[in-house]
Amino acid sequence: AATTDYQAEDATISQGTVATNHLNYTGTGFVDYTNVTGSSVEFTVSAVSAGSASLAFRYANGTTVDRPMDISVNGTVVAANVSFPATADWDTWATKTLNADLTPGSNKIRATATTANGGPNLDRLRV
Ligand code: GCU
Ligand code: CA
Repeated sequence: AATTDYQAEDATISQGTVATNHLNYTGTGFVDYTNVTGSSVEFTVSAVSAGSASLAFRYANGTTVDRPMDISVNGTVVAANVSFPATADWDTWATKTLNADLTPGSNKIRATATTANGGPNLDRLRV
């Protein structure tokens, strides 16, 4: 099926900043989560029909430590402590994909850091 890309730098950011200080991001930058528990990025995603959708988060984690995040849809956590493991460095991006049910129309998809390290750097969500 066709996919749509939602850039993190265009999403609603809570405790994070738009940055460009590493290579290989898409769009005009990426979100650097503040390194605190609860930092988040919320995307507004349009769905044409109800049912399971593939959510692909493109991220970088240049540390050696996992940066887990809760993924919520319309305020409900649908996947807790999703692992965002190390990538080779901050210029190297990986994709974490999970499936979640969306409702027709507008959906709020939020990725919230669950450790004091904050989230990984987040480039985009592809749905
Ligand atoms: C470095 C890196 C940032 C990253 C941060 C972190 O400062 O340059 O892009 O977000 O580490 O550990 O979260
Ligand atoms: Ca950070």
